[in-house]
Amino acid sequence: MDGPDLPQLHVLVVEDDPHHAACMRQALLRMEPGVRVTTVDRLRGALEALRDPAIGCVVTDLRLADAEDAGVVCALRAVRREVPIIVVTGAGSEELAVAAMKLGAADYVTKHARYVEQLPVLVREALGRSVLAGVDPGGAELAPVAGGAADEHFLVGSAAGLRALLALVDRAARSAVPVLIEGETGTGKELVARAIHRRGPRRHASLLVQNCAAISESLLESELFGHVRGAFTGADRDRRGLFEEAGDGTVFLDEVGEAPPAMQAKLLRVLQHEEVKAVGADKVRPVRARIVAATNRPLDVEAKAGRFRTDLYYRLAVLPLRIPPLRHRAADIPRLIEHFLHRFEAREGHETHGLDVDAMRTLQAYPWPGNVRELENEIHRLVLCVPQGQRIRRHHLARRVRDADPAAHEEPLDRVLARVEIALIRQRLREKPTKTAAARSLGITREALYAKMRRLGMRADGASSPPV
Ligand SMILES: Nc1ncnc2c1ncn2[C@@H]1O[C@H](COP(=O)(O)OP(=O)(O)OP(=O)(O)O)[C@@H](O)[C@H]1O
Ligand SMILES: [Mg+2]
Repeated sequence: MDGPDLPQLHVLVVEDDPHHAACMRQALLRMEPGVRVTTVDRLRGALEALRDPAIGCVVTDLRLADAEDAGVVCALRAVRREVPIIVVTGAGSEELAVAAMKLGAADYVTKHARYVEQLPVLVREALGRSVLAGVDPGGAELAPVAGGAADEHFLVGSAAGLRALLALVDRAARSAVPVLIEGETGTGKELVARAIHRRGPRRHASLLVQNCAAISESLLESELFGHVRGAFTGADRDRRGLFEEAGDGTVFLDEVGEAPPAMQAKLLRVLQHEEVKAVGADKVRPVRARIVAATNRPLDVEAKAGRFRTDLYYRLAVLPLRIPPLRHRAADIPRLIEHFLHRFEAREGHETHGLDVDAMRTLQAYPWPGNVRELENEIHRLVLCVPQGQRIRRHHLARRVRDADPAAHEEPLDRVLARVEIALIRQRLREKPTKTAAARSLGITREALYAKMRRLGMRADGASSPPV
């Protein structure tokens, strides 16, 4: 069911041992329909092959006749920096692999007995991972996904990351292959699914959403596949399912990892044969809609653990798209904040005066377990809570956000000690009738107490200035 205009995945294998080269090639060719594999045995050949822009991933050995180790990775990266490199090393040379990763390799595998079986997964992951991995701390930008789209349709991200994501979204939009969007809760999976739909030729048809976790198995089956009259009690007329209803549009299967086993088998049929059978029907009907699925649990792990069908996983994940959690792309946070401030200030008719540096730093340091959605809610709350025209300061932020700020716990020792000393001296000055008595209670002379108070910036009456 590949669309004719889908750019094929083209992998370059660099390996001088012909046996290993052949095994790797075989494993990669089985990865998905239409995949291309070019094999070369030297670095020089690899650099030449890389001039072909269609090559999207490199799998390379680190011991070649004309180059070794770090030299291989550096040379490949010098030609095409954006192409992920997976290094294959001899068993027992993990150190080498780690060094290669430091130089920018995307992943590594050691040549154990069945390492070639891991290659398709590593390639997929490397391609998915490169989606937003290139965070550009400098150039955040706000980009509409579709021309003239409403505010909610903006995908905000760092310039480099956004370009990479949009490139994949575009690639997905132009084809009909299933897309699997993986990401923690609130990372923007639905937003990306809608972008894929809107940027492609299917935008004039509908996008229909079905959450696979929300309803009972029998209801889900009838929602997706439809039913005929009399199929079960209450089925008083024929009803088309989502797959048919969507026509030439898109069906978005949210939380697909939660689909019960029987449903997984039926979904596999839709993907394999592009047809559905309504509940109670004896004929199948063709499906033209494209399928975009989302999961917040890594489906490869679920598949390995036997909780999700491996065959369905591979069918769904022809084009995997992994959205990193917000804590891995803190560079996007200021731009997202600006975007949400804009939205909620307009919606609530209530303007703030932006954020001060401290508040911004605290928001960037917080790990955002609820990702973009949690950030969005916090900004909405701030717009409602901070008085009109005031600057948002650190103390306005939700307690959980303030308390998680590592900087607050990384106060230098001398400042902590100074705070303790000031508090103690103030207390004794209040309690004791004279400075001499206060000094004695602290085990120091009156002169030493005065010197200390000067050093701590305290006035003679015990007040401190400037505050510590
Ligand atoms: N890059 C982004 N730019 C602007 N808004 C974003 C971005 N990512 C997410 N959002 C906003 O964050 C909220 C959550 O996004 P979305 O519903 O797409 O996440 P999700 O991954 O589907 O979450 P869940 O797993 O909980 O279903 C939405 O309001 C969405 O508009
Ligand atoms: Mg969602």
